[in-house]
Amino acid sequence: MYKIAVIPGDGTGPEVAREGLKVLEAASQKFNFRYESKVFDFGGQRYLKTQKTIEDQDIEELKNYSAIFLGAIGHPDVKPGILETGILLKLRFSLDQYINLRPVKLYNEKFCPLKDKKPEDIDFVVVRENSEGLYKGMGEFKNKGTQDEVATQISYNTRKGVERCIRYAFEYTKKRNKKKKLTLCGKTNVLTYAWDLWERTFQEVAKEYPDIKTDYAHVDATTMWFVKNPEWFDVIVTDNMFGDIITDLGAMIQGGMGIAAGGNINPSGVSMFEPIGGSAPKYTGKNVINPLAAICALGMCLENLGEKDAALAIEDSVIKVANKKLKSLAAGKMGYSTEEVGDLVVKYLYKSV
Ligand code: IPM
Ligand code: MN
Repeated sequence: MYKIAVIPGDGTGPEVAREGLKVLEAASQKFNFRYESKVFDFGGQRYLKTQKTIEDQDIEELKNYSAIFLGAIGHPDVKPGILETGILLKLRFSLDQYINLRPVKLYNEKFCPLKDKKPEDIDFVVVRENSEGLYKGMGEFKNKGTQDEVATQISYNTRKGVERCIRYAFEYTKKRNKKKKLTLCGKTNVLTYAWDLWERTFQEVAKEYPDIKTDYAHVDATTMWFVKNPEWFDVIVTDNMFGDIITDLGAMIQGGMGIAAGGNINPSGVSMFEPIGGSAPKYTGKNVINPLAAICALGMCLENLGEKDAALAIEDSVIKVANKKLKSLAAGKMGYSTEEVGDLVVKYLYKSV
């Protein structure tokens, strides 16, 4: 019996989470697993009413769950930073979800903004470090508000933190068993402390994986190659900030935020799965947002729980809906409503073998 904590969150989060839960229910019937879910109301609405983001006792409660399924966090009436650090980053950090796993996969060339790129050219995974780096929040102001003001923001990288991320990436590349190539994406030519540690650690761990080809790319060059030669990549490992940036670009070349999903993974704890686009407030309540990213996140969640067949069938159904039905993956341009897209995935899921 899986216990799924659901955080619908803000904006269009609840609409896409609802479709994800529809697919979860269908998958549980089709693949004979049992689950219970509980909805948590963390988000901007609750913050505006109570001034609360996420408390330590909430974190303790969430530790009793098998996984967390998140819609979106972000509210136009709340100052930027409060909900992001108080909810999303707090969850990632306090549940030690030290990997942010973001697959970049093109399902159909009609969704790709790049010329002449086909599904076989865009199929890679970014392993983003999710607990350190610039996201650690270290730094300070000096002489704040004066002409002599200095603001520092420190990228904090520990050997242990870097190593566990790199190890995860090598293991993942091995299990994925495709090109068997792991690319370290960094900035060794300028950020000479952090990336020296990353590079040394990468080379040391690489010795334990003679079957995995290794490669290095600077982050700026990586963005160029995402556009020019995405077929070069299999798995990419990078730090928190670079991973944040390159996965938005990754989402665009796979067809946009409507399809991009990710997992915040603690391999020995509670992991959290989310569509990587935000709360898209302007589409709230209009039944036009694309729920496929949330449905893919739910699929990743089931895969992580060990329900491999269900996860594969969900992905397969998503591909069928996207390829056979949708005109576009963008909100309002799909040719179907949010609910209809969820229903179509469920329909194909029941038909699958
Ligand atoms: C993401 C988001 C978050 C991040 C924000 C909302 C804090 O952009 O999940 O990529 O920067 O990690
Ligand atoms: Mn981001």
